[in-house]
Amino acid sequence: MKPIIIGNWKMHLTASDVGDYARTFLAEPDILTKAEVTICPAAPLIPAVAGAFSNSPVQWGGQNAHWETQGAFTGETSMAMLSNLGCRLVLCGHSERRKFFHETDEMVSRKVEQATAHSMVPVLCVGETYEQRHQQQHEVVVMEQIRKGIDLLSAFPSLALYVAYEPVWAISTNQAIEPNPSDIIAMARLIRNALREELPTGAESVPILFGGNVNPQNAKKFVDGEVVTGVLVGGASLNPKTFHQIVTQLV
Ligand code: PGA
Repeated sequence: MKPIIIGNWKMHLTASDVGDYARTFLAEPDILTKAEVTICPAAPLIPAVAGAFSNSPVQWGGQNAHWETQGAFTGETSMAMLSNLGCRLVLCGHSERRKFFHETDEMVSRKVEQATAHSMVPVLCVGETYEQRHQQQHEVVVMEQIRKGIDLLSAFPSLALYVAYEPVWAISTNQAIEPNPSDIIAMARLIRNALREELPTGAESVPILFGGNVNPQNAKKFVDGEVVTGVLVGGASLNPKTFHQIVTQLV
């Protein structure tokens, strides 16, 4: 299976930066065909990203969207809007959404449902805070996030889902403590077990990704190719050369 590599640009770059980014990133396209690479820019940049990458192996996705199909929600983006722009996946419940925008597991669950209803792959983001790990609550917290996050998926006949395990303390803008790879693999195994318990079918084929200050130096440590099959990259995806190096490390 190809490694899955998702770049999360967060609230960085502008549409004017996309052309140069794409030229540099696509300079060695052969490597990119050996991975499944998706870039998630901020919503207003999606048309520029779609234009720059449409004839390349690179796909694009959304960082977030609302759980309602449409309506009077000033400032929000719907799943239909992302889908219409060719997004193949959408991040649901990133820890920054949970922290700064008070997203609850229930909201995340409805986003996962809406992404699925619009034929995009929901990337369910889960992960504990530093305090929660310190208090030995990390397993309980993450299992709850998984269970609630996929709660509404059983209504769909076929399953398309990715899970991204991103311990909040490992993300580059937080403490960015480098985790022990064996702890990451152990948590990924627990996530797989929770998926087996909750999903009637398809749990084995849900890719589990790791995120948290992934860079060209450490990417390989966290991807064993069996339990963890990809990465969600924030800061290091902003520089096309660095992001390309991560791809090179994992293929
Ligand atoms: P980071 O971000 O790679 O900058 O730690 C990862 C994420 O928040 O998705």
